[in-house]
Amino acid sequence: MNSPTRVLTGITPSGTPHLGNYAGAIRPAVAESLRPGVESFYFLADYHALIKVQDPVRVQRSTLEIAATWLACGLDPDRVWFYRQSDIPEIPELTWLLTCVAGKGLLNRAHAYKAAVDANSVAGEDADAGVTAGLYLYPVLMAADILAFKAQRVPVGRDQVQHIEMARDFAVRFNHLYGPHLVLPEAIVEDQVATLPGLDGRKMSKSYDNTIPLFAPPAQLKKLIAGIVTDSSAPGEAKDPDVSHLFTLYRAFASPAQAADMHAALRSGLAWGEAKEALFELLDGHLAPMRERYEALMAKPAEIEATLQAGASKARAVATPLLRDLRDAVGLRPLTAAMADAPKTKPAKAAQPAFRQYREADGRFYFKLVDAEGRALLQGAGHASPKDVGEVIARLKASGAMLAADDSGGVQLAGEPVGTLIALSNLDDVRTALAAFETA
Ligand code: TRP
Repeated sequence: MNSPTRVLTGITPSGTPHLGNYAGAIRPAVAESLRPGVESFYFLADYHALIKVQDPVRVQRSTLEIAATWLACGLDPDRVWFYRQSDIPEIPELTWLLTCVAGKGLLNRAHAYKAAVDANSVAGEDADAGVTAGLYLYPVLMAADILAFKAQRVPVGRDQVQHIEMARDFAVRFNHLYGPHLVLPEAIVEDQVATLPGLDGRKMSKSYDNTIPLFAPPAQLKKLIAGIVTDSSAPGEAKDPDVSHLFTLYRAFASPAQAADMHAALRSGLAWGEAKEALFELLDGHLAPMRERYEALMAKPAEIEATLQAGASKARAVATPLLRDLRDAVGLRPLTAAMADAPKTKPAKAAQPAFRQYREADGRFYFKLVDAEGRALLQGAGHASPKDVGEVIARLKASGAMLAADDSGGVQLAGEPVGTLIALSNLDDVRTALAAFETA
């Protein structure tokens, strides 16, 4: 049997979950956790919440609501690792170890930080006005979340992919310095998961104020559904289900047969009012049992707390031994052990990866990146002058984590083509080699 795949994702406890969160994130994550061969680590990212929310009552309330929501939606705490980030002291501990290998320049390029700086510059403010070190270090904390559990796959939204790339970069640098302790995670972006339309037809989102709260009481649910925007076709008039938000919502919760029936009924003139009634019945039928569990759980915070504590012990059983190894690896050791283990002499300087620059018969200037064993990894594109090649090499050394490769082996740095992978090498080999320059 293959060893299980470890899947990990964080849920930031802020705001009340809505139908869009359920269809787009909660429902697929719960389904994934039931698949054989998968170990699911799902946690409440309450340290992350502190970056945005500085109201203690809201932090606590939101943590309770989100925990109750996931449990009510069928997450089985005996089967998965379900815990609260702030119950795992190994996470902030690893955060510091990673902070000490994370390139500051790389953090400067994180989207969330850059957006804050850009907004400040538009407003004529100091670049870092209102920016906390917490926001700046957000990617390091997130990397610790992932690396502390040796997660292999991290399902995230597109906006989070850069953070996973950074986690890989920190792991590569750490491993380069201290040995192969950390597992490089891979971002999983589910493009085909449902994005639900909201009441006004735009994507359902808190920021558009067009949401249907997941556990709205039936009367409120009915009222919200009545407010869904439709076109003005009259009862009896044929309607096009394929451009109707109402139908999109219906289909997201219907069986294929129910969806086909509704499709046909709308085409043969079902009134919008009746379609709304049917949508209410469908949603309420789907949500009522979960709503009931949710309300029961919300009434017993002590039970949720106990579940989270049990989850924390289970999670720490994974993270504690790893952090013990990492502390030892970086030299945070009992002094007795340090005396015994310290090498008497500095080891001979290991061979290093290198850039080889040369000129081709076409008169242009090229480079190759070779690893410590002299194996060629990356073939650079041709340039008019050695200075141009030098600039590309400098950029590669400084920000190797921003590299991407396409299917045909073309390599881009921040979107610009820089060369091609040489047969048998891959992007991770290139990143590992580049990390040697960053930490040199
Ligand atoms: N930053 C993620 C978000 O906003 C939440 C998160 C925190 C996370 N830590 C994580 C996601 C670790 C995946 C892995 O959605």
